[in-house]
Amino acid sequence: MNTESPPSPNPGRSSFKALWLPIIAASVLVLFLSLALLWFVSTAKRQTATLASDPPEIPERINGHLVDIEIGQALYMQSCASCHGKSGEGMAMQGSPLIRSHFLTQNSDSQVVRFLQRGRNANDPATLMQRAMPARGGNPNLTDQDLADITAYLRAMQLNARNQPDIAGSNP
Ligand code: HEC
Repeated sequence: MNTESPPSPNPGRSSFKALWLPIIAASVLVLFLSLALLWFVSTAKRQTATLASDPPEIPERINGHLVDIEIGQALYMQSCASCHGKSGEGMAMQGSPLIRSHFLTQNSDSQVVRFLQRGRNANDPATLMQRAMPARGGNPNLTDQDLADITAYLRAMQLNARNQPDIAGSNP
């Protein structure tokens, strides 16, 4: 008894297609699905990390002012984003990056407010860009309450950036 069928002298193109095409298609699909899953998992992780940010680091009060991060954000967009960027990433020739500013992490909330009240001269020894940071961001209408709200928003911005290591805008 001969159980082996003789090798086909010339396997047809159609049988090759019938055998391999589904396998190739399935592998491509599996690869695509795993990439999608990877992407989904990494985004989900990042979002939970952002949500799990430590609330104690965002102050409730600064200099006795009860602070509101949402107001701070709106004021930041109006008065600061033009130089420092919408996400605090900094803008060449305009304003330094804030999201990873060591000045911010090393100074207390009150010290940051005091800095915002005064600004920084271009020839200050601490200058980063040899450019002036205008007092109150150049907007004299900003009250001390506004500056406290903005400072709280800067804290939230930094905390958020800490949870997203790939975010741009590092600063010495
Ligand atoms: C006209 C552009 C401009 C505007 C508007 C502006 N800044 Fe600045 N800011 C600068 C520049 C330029 C520097 C860097 C100064 C230097 O060379 O050290 C700076 C520096 C800073 C720093 C210090 C950063 C560090 O790491 O030392 C903080 C904090 C800051 N700005 C916050 C703000 C906030 C908050 C506002 C809005 C209320 C604001 N800035 C509005 C230009 C601006």
